[in-house]
Amino acid sequence: MKTSAYVFRYAVVLLTVVLPTILSAQQPVTVQIGKNTDSVQISKHIYGHFAEHLGRCIYDGLYVGEDNKIIPNTEGVRNDIIAALKELNIPNLRWPGGCFADTYHWKDGVGPQEDRPTIVNRWWGGTTEDNSFGTHNFLNLCEVLGAEPYLSANVGSGTVQELVDWMQYTNHDGVSPMADWRRENGREEPWNVKYWGVGNETWGCGGNMTAEYYSDIYRKYATFMSDWNNSGGVYRIASGASEDDYHWTETLMKNVPHNLMDAVALHDYAVFNWDAKGPSVNFDEEIYFKSMEQALKMEEYVTKHIAIMDKYDPEGNVDLFVDEWGGWYDAEPEVQNGVLYQQNTIRDVMIAGTVLNTFNNHAKRVKMANLAQMVNVLQAVILTDEEKMIKTPTYHVMNMYKVHQDALLLPSKIENNAEFRGLPVISVSASKAADNSVHISLVNIASKAEKAVEVNLGDLDIKNIKAQILTSEKLQDHNSFNDPDNVVPVEFKDFKLKKGVLSMDVPAHSLIVLEGK
Ligand code: AHR
Repeated sequence: MKTSAYVFRYAVVLLTVVLPTILSAQQPVTVQIGKNTDSVQISKHIYGHFAEHLGRCIYDGLYVGEDNKIIPNTEGVRNDIIAALKELNIPNLRWPGGCFADTYHWKDGVGPQEDRPTIVNRWWGGTTEDNSFGTHNFLNLCEVLGAEPYLSANVGSGTVQELVDWMQYTNHDGVSPMADWRRENGREEPWNVKYWGVGNETWGCGGNMTAEYYSDIYRKYATFMSDWNNSGGVYRIASGASEDDYHWTETLMKNVPHNLMDAVALHDYAVFNWDAKGPSVNFDEEIYFKSMEQALKMEEYVTKHIAIMDKYDPEGNVDLFVDEWGGWYDAEPEVQNGVLYQQNTIRDVMIAGTVLNTFNNHAKRVKMANLAQMVNVLQAVILTDEEKMIKTPTYHVMNMYKVHQDALLLPSKIENNAEFRGLPVISVSASKAADNSVHISLVNIASKAEKAVEVNLGDLDIKNIKAQILTSEKLQDHNSFNDPDNVVPVEFKDFKLKKGVLSMDVPAHSLIVLEGK
């Protein structure tokens, strides 16, 4: 080939491929905030939590016992944890499991302590429990927190009668065997529990059932579930699929009459290899990338499960509850009884920020989500060590994002999004609160590069903006008992608002929540 032909060919490649790529990488990512035309509300229940009898979540975590004279507590629950959770406005709390739920017999956990049997927690470390934390403790705690309880019932090794009795015990106001027993045990008023899960992971630890078999079992349970004419209706939640098991959702939506089922669940953890999940702190960039790749799959899973639900339930009568989600790594080996105990870093900030943006953006169908788990287990918001308690980076995400609770969703469209090794770098969601303030949460998952972002506010009339940022120098940075405030949100001022366009450079691996008024 002649030299002139070479030059011509290179010039064409330069102009058509290389130059546009360079220019597009330099151009800002643009976000267009739209109008809330179909009045979708971001349910506050998307910001729910989950506490299981597992490792040090309940015993030696949340609950230190009523006789504990060293750690200040209310009915045995640590006061410092209660205060931290109140600040988060936690809307609901799911209990007692998880896998534990399908081994739990609630009657073992009420009445005089000396009459309660011990049990062996066969799923989680084989520890012996004395049943001192039971239904009263849990429901009283929810009252103190102002959170709706979500009880996960035992289907795997329980009975329909056991569940019906539990509902009567917690919800019946009149004279009945279970309501009378509740009064005998010191509680006059019913708690009016609304949210009831029918088994947990019934495809696995909840009984290894097929979707077809479980949908029949579910129908039977749902038939006998009742609010005992007292609590304004109960919410029956079917044990749902894991990750991309679309057959599970399809079978439930097809086989269960929708008047028997208020929500279908979904579980999805950011785990890239179940046999080697990697360390919670000393991970490298490769592991970080794999974790984020997995976390961002939530968008695909939720979209596809919703598409199935839309097919069978176009009116949107059945909700999607993602009642277990979060990052899951190898447990910290040195922590005693630390089953699934892990540290929490900037990687967890990235996971929580992007996943919560997904839930917000799908708020039309996603009506509840439960971060796993609340204290000392998996992506916990709180870690404890004897008298000490710390708030993890994920705690701060939940605190920054609480502004979205019950706000109207403002749809956002991202254009020219950049890539971090093939993954979209910027994630966003936006909402308008009852007082008309607008909140935009932005996440840049890139490990090293900051990214210019322009947010077009459309016809939102915003004059004053303030913002907070959560980030740290390294992805592995975290809070510890010696340095509890190493990762905390700080004020962010590096933005400009001009003619309805908000521009800023979003630093690498950072999360920003802006408030406009
Ligand atoms: O959250 C830990 C476990 O993960 C739960 O017990 C189970 O439901 C899931 O597999």
